[in-house]
Amino acid sequence: MSDIVLVVAAADNGVIGASGRIPWHLSDDLKRFKALTLGRTVVMGRKTWDSLPRKPLPGRDNVVITRDRSWRADGAIVAATPEAAIALAKGDAMVIGGAEVYRALLSRANRIELTEVHGTFAGDAAFVFDRRDWRETAREDRVTPDGLAYSYVTLVR
Ligand SMILES: NC(=O)c1ccc[n+]([C@@H]2O[C@H](COP(=O)([O-])OP(=O)(O)OC[C@H]3O[C@@H](n4cnc5c(N)ncnc54)[C@H](OP(=O)(O)O)[C@@H]3O)[C@@H](O)[C@H]2O)c1
Repeated sequence: MSDIVLVVAAADNGVIGASGRIPWHLSDDLKRFKALTLGRTVVMGRKTWDSLPRKPLPGRDNVVITRDRSWRADGAIVAATPEAAIALAKGDAMVIGGAEVYRALLSRANRIELTEVHGTFAGDAAFVFDRRDWRETAREDRVTPDGLAYSYVTLVR
């Protein structure tokens, strides 16, 4: 069975984004993101696609969900619903956001690769879920050179 994996970085207050951007810079987390997603299918909302500095994400099938039936972009495989996006995945579906897409697919996910960013950030996009539904199988605590603490956490159910 293929997995449906949410790959998400969230602040302690749940914030994942602010004005279409991620409100912190964690270069090591970008490396982890690449390692988790390379060679796989990434599933994202159209707004997250728009936020990518370089698109498509290279070395990955980029599936983009939109309600706009005429939307097209070079390197994007278009899906009309979150369910259709999952069905398009070859093997595991790595769901990479944003907030609306995480909300839509949380109930279908069987793993979360979570980066906990230990701080409170202002923002307009959040990832909120009930920890009691999930079992933590791995945790790695880290700190950036300028003192921002973060943790890589794997959650399954
Ligand atoms: N920290 C992290 O890990 C992380 C990861 C990813 C993104 N982010 C941040 O999250 C923010 C973006 O999140 P967001 O919630 O605003 O947008 P989003 O989930 O990336 O995209 C929302 C769009 O996806 C499409 N969509 C969503 N649900 C759909 C459904 N059920 N059926 C059909 N289409 C659907 C719609 O596109 P149309 O409007 O085209 O119809 C909708 O406007 C940004 O700030 C970004 O930087 C953070």
